[in-house]
Amino acid sequence: MQTKPWNFSAGPSMLPPSVLRQAQRELLDWNGQGASVMELSHRGAPFMELARGIESDLRTLLAIPDNYRVLFTAGGATTIQALLALNFAAPNQRADYVVSGHWSQTALKQARPYVNVQIAAQPAPFDRSPDPAEWTWSRDSAFVHYTANETIHGIAQREVPILPADAPPLIADASSSIASEPMAIERLGAIYAGAQKNLGPVGISVLIVRNDLLEREGQPRADIFRYALQAERDSMLNTPPTFNWYLLGLTVRWMLEQGGTRAFRERNERKAHTLYEVIDGSDGFYRNNVQPDSRSIMNVPFFLPSADLDALFVQESQRLGFIGLKGHKAIGGIRASIYNAMPQEGVDALAELMTDFKRRHG
Ligand SMILES: Cc1ncc(COP(=O)(O)O)c(C=O)c1O
Repeated sequence: MQTKPWNFSAGPSMLPPSVLRQAQRELLDWNGQGASVMELSHRGAPFMELARGIESDLRTLLAIPDNYRVLFTAGGATTIQALLALNFAAPNQRADYVVSGHWSQTALKQARPYVNVQIAAQPAPFDRSPDPAEWTWSRDSAFVHYTANETIHGIAQREVPILPADAPPLIADASSSIASEPMAIERLGAIYAGAQKNLGPVGISVLIVRNDLLEREGQPRADIFRYALQAERDSMLNTPPTFNWYLLGLTVRWMLEQGGTRAFRERNERKAHTLYEVIDGSDGFYRNNVQPDSRSIMNVPFFLPSADLDALFVQESQRLGFIGLKGHKAIGGIRASIYNAMPQEGVDALAELMTDFKRRHG
């Protein structure tokens, strides 16, 4: 069995081949400008027009309501995690964090220097997304933060929770699930994502934020960290990562052409089902530790009966042309990341490898 180099990397992750081909075609001469998009001024009319079009496409793709601003920011999701507290909370104001895995812990750690962090819920071990009915929060908190998809643990809160009317605004880290299926953005105060999974290349992030949050005073900070000012200046307070922005735009356009988030929900559920079916039908040879209703449709982590077999599986997968299946060092094992760009064909090839490997080693 020799396969295409199917890329299951968790992020940076595979991009749609047609996007890369278009970028390749346009690399030296974009839009008839006689120069690469990365060589042109971000303040020139061609790039400004491109940026406006990308925002408009993203608004269509994600059904972003008019009372939200869309910011394109340099730095990753982790940078946003720190800046959320500086922009949307008063000094040492309480903020409530749902901790469902590694990335929720990171979010909390980034906010801790600036706010009075409280844990809204934290299952032990990390094997599910806690039921929003069990979250604890205070009406006086600046916000409640949760992670829509835990990229390492493969745990998802797929439905945006509806909190009671007197709850603080809800903020979602959707770095590894944005655009994977429809999402009720109108239930959120803000939602953010690093681009390097479903939205394109690393080096640019997206923050979608409701207007009233932008009016908050926040904490003393430099202008460059002021989201309201970034919104005023169309995310161009300083030189933005233009090439990444352009690639994000191509990826968003591709998702629209593919049928948008409804089409991706169907495809992603099918891909995930293919892998969970092999895992659950393996008589315990493959193990996924997440409770069924919290299983991610983007990241499927699993473990073989021993660390040696995990290593052998990874080794064999690499020899056959698979990329990126080694699990994150925080939990080990194997992880298949199956973002929007991964076709069913790649997942079928992995399922075939899993079945064959179990036959030989089970
Ligand atoms: C859910 C989630 N949040 C935050 C991050 C951190 O993103 P960045 O590396 O862009 O700071 C990641 C990275 O994989 C992630 O998966």
